[in-house]
Amino acid sequence: MAMSADAQKTFYLEVFGCQMNVHDSEKVIGTLLAQGYRQVSTVEEAGLILYNTCSIRDKAEQKVFHRLADYKKLQAQGKRFGVLGCVAQQEGEKIFERAPHVSLVCGSASYRNLPQMLIQIEAGKQRVTGLDDRETDECFETEFTARTNPHRGYITIIEGCDKFCAYCVVPYTRGKERSRTSESVLAEARQMTDLGYTEIQLLGQNVNSYKDPEGNPGSSKSSKKTFAELLAAVGEVPGIRRVRFTTSHPRDFGRDIVDAIDAVPTLCDHVHLPVQTGSTRVLDAMQRLYTRDQYLERIAWMKAAKREISITTDVIVGFPGETEADFAETLGLLEEVGYDAVFAFKYSPRPNTPSLSMEDAIPDEEKARRLEVLMAKQREIQSASYKRYIGTHCEVMVEGRNEARAQWIGRTTHNKTLNFTVPEGANPKAGSYVPVIVTGSFPNSLLGELVV
Ligand code: 5AD
Ligand code: SF4
Repeated sequence: MAMSADAQKTFYLEVFGCQMNVHDSEKVIGTLLAQGYRQVSTVEEAGLILYNTCSIRDKAEQKVFHRLADYKKLQAQGKRFGVLGCVAQQEGEKIFERAPHVSLVCGSASYRNLPQMLIQIEAGKQRVTGLDDRETDECFETEFTARTNPHRGYITIIEGCDKFCAYCVVPYTRGKERSRTSESVLAEARQMTDLGYTEIQLLGQNVNSYKDPEGNPGSSKSSKKTFAELLAAVGEVPGIRRVRFTTSHPRDFGRDIVDAIDAVPTLCDHVHLPVQTGSTRVLDAMQRLYTRDQYLERIAWMKAAKREISITTDVIVGFPGETEADFAETLGLLEEVGYDAVFAFKYSPRPNTPSLSMEDAIPDEEKARRLEVLMAKQREIQSASYKRYIGTHCEVMVEGRNEARAQWIGRTTHNKTLNFTVPEGANPKAGSYVPVIVTGSFPNSLLGELVV
C-alpha cells in the first residue's frame, strides 16, 4: 500500500539510555523537523519510526529488538524503521539480518550525515548506514536542537570516550573523544539564556577530559579553556541560575573543579563521581586508572569545599573475580562517603569489551544478592542523611505539579526532588525558583512547604 507524501514525512522517535542519548535525540528531532518532517506521538501515525538505543547492559540492548518485533507487521503499511545510537553502532549491518524491516542503522558519530541519509530513505533505498565515523574529529553541532524542557537544557561539550574501562561498550559505540570549542559551547549557552533557559547541564561521557580545540581563526590562544574554566564561564553567562555537569571520571577530576564550585555561586552543589567498586584490586581489573585512596582524596576535596556538595555515584556489583571481601570494601566505601544517591548495576558482559573473556564470572543469583544488600545499605544511609535537611530552607526550581497528591515538584541545587505544598491561592510557575522549608524526608526525596 502506497502512503501519501504527507504521511511519509512524519516520524516517531523513542529514546533509551543515558542523558547523552536524550540530548542526541533532541538534536536528531531538530534535524528531522528542519528537513520537513513532523513529529507524531504514536507509531501508528508515523511514516518513519526511529529508536535511539542503548547497549550499556544486556537488558537495555534487548529493548530495541522487542520493539522491532512488536511493530514488524507495520512494514506492510509502508512504514520505515531506523535504529540509531549505541546498539546501531555495536551491531551494525547485523541488524538488517535480525530485523529485515529496518532500513536505517546509524551510530551517534554519524548523525551529522542524517540529512543525506534521510534523502536516501525517501528515495526508497533499503539499507542505509552511518557506521564509519568513530574516528571522526567532528562533533554533532546543529542549530536545530529541539529541546523539550523550556527552562533546563543540555549542552554537549565532549563526545566519545578514550578510557576503555574493561566492562564498557561506550568507547566502541560512541567513538573517540572529541571536544567542542569553548566558544561554541558558550555561544550555545548565551542563545539558551536569550530563550529564557536558566539551568544548563553540560554533558559528556567524561567531561573532565574536555580539551578545548583551537577556536575560530583569529581567536587568541589564551581563550582556550580547561574544563573547570569552561564550567565557571558557563556559570557566569548572564541569566544562568544553575549549572550541572555529568559524567565525571575520578582519574581526570581535578581540584580546580571544586575551586570553581567554590568561586561561582551558580555552579550546583552536586557532583556525580562514579566509583564502580570500593576495592582497589577490582578497580585495577576494571582498568579504572585510580585506587580507592585516590578516589577518596577527591571526595576529601569536595568535603572541604565552602558549600556542602552532594555526592552521587555509580556502582557495578559482581564484576568477574569480585570476592566477598572486595564487595565488603564497596559497602564500607558507601558508609565512608555517605552518598546522596547510588546507581547500582549487576555486571553485564558486553560485546567487544576486555572483561567479556575474564574468568571467575559471578553467578547471576549472587550478583542479584549483592545488589540487594548494597541497595538496602544505601537506603539506610539515605534515610538517615536526608533527615539533616529537615528545618532548613532550600531554593527549588519548580518542575511541575503532582495533581493526585496536590503537591508541587521542585529540585534543589543538590539535585534532590523536594515535593512541597503551597498556601491557598499560591501558584508557583514551572521554571521559577522559590524558597521552601523542608518538613519531612524519605530515602529518595524531601517534603516541604513553600515559604511566602
Ligand atoms: N555492566 C553493568 N553496568 C555497567 N555500567 C557500564 N557498563 C556496564 C556493564 N557492562 C554502568 C557503570 C556506569 C553506568 C553508566 O553504567 O556503573 O557508570
Ligand atoms: Fe547507553 Fe552508554 Fe550509549 Fe549512553 S553512551 S546510550 S549509557 S551505551
